Amino acid sequence: MGGSDEHIESMMHERRHFPPPRHGSERAHIPGPEAYDDLRDQAARDPEGFWAERAKALLDWDSEWDTVLEADWETPEFKWFAGGKLNACANCLDRHVASGRGEKTALIWQGEPEDDVRQFTYAELRDEVVKFAKVLKKWGVGKGDRVAVYLPMIPELPIAMLACARIGAVHSVVFAGFSAHSLQNRIQDCEAKVLITADAVIRAGKQIPLKTNGDEALEACPSVEHCIVVNRAGLDVAMHEGRDVWWHDAVAGDDGTDCPPESMDAEDLLFILYTSGSTGKPKGVVHTTGGYLTYTAQTTQWVFDIQEDDVYWCTADIGWITGHSYILYGPLALGATTVMFEGVPSYPQPDRFWQVVEKFKVTIFYTAPTVIRALMREGPQWTETRDLSSLRLLGSVGEPINPEAWMWYHDHVGKGELPVLDTWWQTETGGIMISAVPYATTLKPGSASQPLPGIEADIVDRDGEPVGPNRGGHLVVKTPWPGMLRNVYGDPARYKSTYFERFPGMYESGDSARMDEEGYFWIMGRLDDVINVSGHRLGTAEIESALVAHEAVAEAAVVGMPHEVKGQAIYAYVTLKSTFQENDELRKVLRQHVRTEIGAIATPEIIQFAPGLPKTRSGKIMRRILRKIAADETNAFGDTSTLADPTVIADLIDGKNLLG
Ligand code: WTA
Repeated sequence: MGGSDEHIESMMHERRHFPPPRHGSERAHIPGPEAYDDLRDQAARDPEGFWAERAKALLDWDSEWDTVLEADWETPEFKWFAGGKLNACANCLDRHVASGRGEKTALIWQGEPEDDVRQFTYAELRDEVVKFAKVLKKWGVGKGDRVAVYLPMIPELPIAMLACARIGAVHSVVFAGFSAHSLQNRIQDCEAKVLITADAVIRAGKQIPLKTNGDEALEACPSVEHCIVVNRAGLDVAMHEGRDVWWHDAVAGDDGTDCPPESMDAEDLLFILYTSGSTGKPKGVVHTTGGYLTYTAQTTQWVFDIQEDDVYWCTADIGWITGHSYILYGPLALGATTVMFEGVPSYPQPDRFWQVVEKFKVTIFYTAPTVIRALMREGPQWTETRDLSSLRLLGSVGEPINPEAWMWYHDHVGKGELPVLDTWWQTETGGIMISAVPYATTLKPGSASQPLPGIEADIVDRDGEPVGPNRGGHLVVKTPWPGMLRNVYGDPARYKSTYFERFPGMYESGDSARMDEEGYFWIMGRLDDVINVSGHRLGTAEIESALVAHEAVAEAAVVGMPHEVKGQAIYAYVTLKSTFQENDELRKVLRQHVRTEIGAIATPEIIQFAPGLPKTRSGKIMRRILRKIAADETNAFGDTSTLADPTVIADLIDGKNLLG
């Protein structure tokens, strides 16, 4: 489990309340508590009517659906707006151009180098997307084909995604921080036809080669016919004759014709996004067109209260779901101005985010607690030299935001005025599920507030019975919502067993939470073997299998440990083969090994060599004990009577103390 109980206790005793701001409420989409209650009642009374009205109000459909919802919890299978036709790209671009927003700025891109800025109006972005859509078609990509996208945070990333959506191809974006090996697994799983990558990533002033990872991955990806390469950094890269082509060459000589958007069924796949689970292999979470777009547009509108003149910035990487839903699809579906930033918060100095806010007069800002905690450490002075007066709303996502970080965000970025919206959701949910609504909810620092109208979340015990106020349990969702995942790509059995089997008729989130007497949710963390490092999900099994793939390692067990900035960090217990020596050099080698196997985010913070691991007599590793040792909670291990060899505990504690 993520947060320690003590931490949760301190959050539960948090008594500060912040009523919604008045200023701005006059024109808000949900102007106050009464409007909010009305919507909630309406959604509860007639969920299908509610979502049908939303889908109609928010999107343009080529033809209307036959049924709003077909739900089969048993198989399981869920269909939203079945029979309805639409195109996601046309909804994000063409219709805004057609309705007079063609000259409005759609995308502001700030590169890491200060002078690298590209801005696209809706008309310009549409033209770029059309050009690239034609390239994809020319290279043989058609409706339903998968396209792997492995790009840094540059405009070609959203352009590629929207181009896929335009022609009905399915994008599978792989975060550019993942390794060649991780990329390869993901391409193999979805059998992508094309890979889109770049020469290099620019990060904190350095160039990190990317195309070389692509090449390595493609050594064992027979499905990939072509690789399109963006020149981001001017790096000299090897181009594979007949397979590779530069993006700029591919789009050159465009004939100016249109590439009409493909009319897709609401339930046609829009994208696949891989996420870590508790077993080894990442899951390809499947999202479809109509429901996902309705849900992201809806939540962007209500949670961030986007208005025509807002400049909205979500700092996530598009390689994760937050970037998909809240840099790209949600804001563009609404015709908003969305900011995309290539850099990091601390480079060249810790005011970079605030400098970007000042430069573009950002009004709505959405980031992660880990960013806030890292900037907190640098001191509030960095927030003081920049003009942040354009801001009106602040958001947080990815992990629980501790009240201290919440208050710092509110006081120093929000100058003691701005609401901080803590949004709980997952790759699987497609969009925000539990969150305050800025002009209607009284905030409690550390709580994600309440499920949005139309979302029926609850906390249940192991038998699926509601636990009632102030008791911890499994966070579940009891009715379908349009943004829910539709499958695990190619693995319906895993779809069922992971999300729908344990609690019949409910979606199991894998998180634990408590609800207070006012119905506010306090998220506690994962219940499965997933670690949340700086808001990124990593499966312990994945890291363990990377470790044991090294010749020196006999066995490995990985757990999360509390970390001041990252929330959680990776703690690995490693048993070496008898022919290898425990030393710092090998520790370094193993850390590097995990980096190359998975990616830098999976690098263990601590590796402890352990001659023995705590196992039950049936051979199961007792992770609970390992978690406690990693967290220095060595006074209460609970029941250890099932341990095969109880002396390993003392040895492990000694080993930890030697690490210092
Ligand atoms: C965690 C990111 C507490 C949670 C959108 C969830 C949170 C996992 C919050 C999903 C929050 C996300 N408070 N925990 N506001 N937001 N989480 O799929 O454990 O990358 O299950 O989606 O992050 O991570 P994912």
